[in-house]
Amino acid sequence: MGRHQINRRTAIGVIGAGAGLVPLGLVARRGWAQEPVRHDLTIQHVRFQIADAPTDTLVSAQAEGPPPVLRLKQGVPFVSTVTNRLDTFSTMHWHGIRLENGMDGVPYLTQPPFGQDESFEYRFTSADAGSYWYHPHCMTMDLMAMGLTGVLIVDEAEDPGFDSEVVLNLRDFRLRPNGEWLDLWTPRGAARGGTYGTVLTANWLSDPVYEAKAGGVTRLRLAATDTTRIYRPYVTGAAGQVIAADGHPLRVAMPWPSEAEPALLSPGQRLEMAIEMPRQEGALVDVMTDFPGGPRRLARIRAAGPDLGRALADVAPLPMNDVPEPDLENARLEEFVFGWTPEGGAPNNGFCGTLGFSFWSINRIPWPGDAASPSNPGFAPLATFKQGESVVLRLRNESPNRHPIHLHGLVFRPLRSNKRVLPSNWTDTVLLLQEETIEVALVADNPGDWAFHCHVIEHQKTGLAGFIRVLA
Ligand code: C2O
Ligand code: CU
Ligand code: CU
Repeated sequence: MGRHQINRRTAIGVIGAGAGLVPLGLVARRGWAQEPVRHDLTIQHVRFQIADAPTDTLVSAQAEGPPPVLRLKQGVPFVSTVTNRLDTFSTMHWHGIRLENGMDGVPYLTQPPFGQDESFEYRFTSADAGSYWYHPHCMTMDLMAMGLTGVLIVDEAEDPGFDSEVVLNLRDFRLRPNGEWLDLWTPRGAARGGTYGTVLTANWLSDPVYEAKAGGVTRLRLAATDTTRIYRPYVTGAAGQVIAADGHPLRVAMPWPSEAEPALLSPGQRLEMAIEMPRQEGALVDVMTDFPGGPRRLARIRAAGPDLGRALADVAPLPMNDVPEPDLENARLEEFVFGWTPEGGAPNNGFCGTLGFSFWSINRIPWPGDAASPSNPGFAPLATFKQGESVVLRLRNESPNRHPIHLHGLVFRPLRSNKRVLPSNWTDTVLLLQEETIEVALVADNPGDWAFHCHVIEHQKTGLAGFIRVLA
């Protein structure tokens, strides 16, 4: 049965319970008195030139160009009516935002997917400032590979005072030089590290140039929204400091990434840097990534205007977001193992798109698909926590591939790895290297069913997914 023959009743029929209101502290304190910020989005095809010739069938969230950068304000309500103009079903997910479960955009788990010419109104108030992003959670492989990934910025309640800002949405496209699509994924890639794109872009452009004030302090926000690629970014031509990762300010300083020791930025992750722009008008700062076969430039930033004469120390450190500290003494340990499926795997529900394979599993159970519902074998929470409980998650990768593991609705703090020293900031996505075990800690303070999956989309779509339930 094709996805278009599944009727509306089927789509809505199996929604679980659990769209309660979540009084995250800040929301209650300063959320409701203010006018909401509204940004409506329309999922649609657009024409844009990424390869040597234009492509007509890219997918954006506005009529022209890439999905817009959305700017919200910390503690101020946000409203977005998302309308779908494609002939497939969709939803929108707000990656990294700690919001009410019913607004999380996961088909069946939190809402019915919406079809052609249908809309869904999302509303939430983010208590956290920082860099986040948005993407669909139904037809995830096709829609994301074809362009539907956008950056979402929550501005600090008080302006930290940077002189300029550059936002780079980093991703690849699998296009031939003539602008036609290559296969968006391959079974070979899905069963290994994922299928890589052919054109490296920042904001859908190859090696764009942006301007920032000469002698000013620039805030650079990188978001890795690719379905597969793990970036190894660093900046040349200026001094700077890494200030935040995955939305949250660093607690412990990270070394300034360099060609010899680049940062690690896997699908789903964000990195923010404060950069001291050169004082000389016209001087260029290069944003690079280590790459198979030699470094590649992602974008350039050109110093513009008269020298502002500012230094990193002139900008105050970013305020921490208000996240509860887990009680490690009394935390419960939950183990998760990421690996192959024991056998062929469960039947895939094709409603939100299926790759037709089951290669991966969490705790040996392959997830039945984007549109998995309670009637599918394998549909059960991977773990159940009580609201307010402190938990340590032990994440063990028993496969020879790397997996950026992402949790919705909650943030966690890496405690330790059997392989390396990890940044200890709050995060929603942690990269598990080959055969790595990482322990992370969290307070389960947000009730609901929260998707938990690998952000290499081919892995997510072929079994490496599931959900964690937090009981109110
Ligand atoms: Cu970036 Cu399940 O999400
Ligand atoms: Cu997410
Ligand atoms: Cu993976």
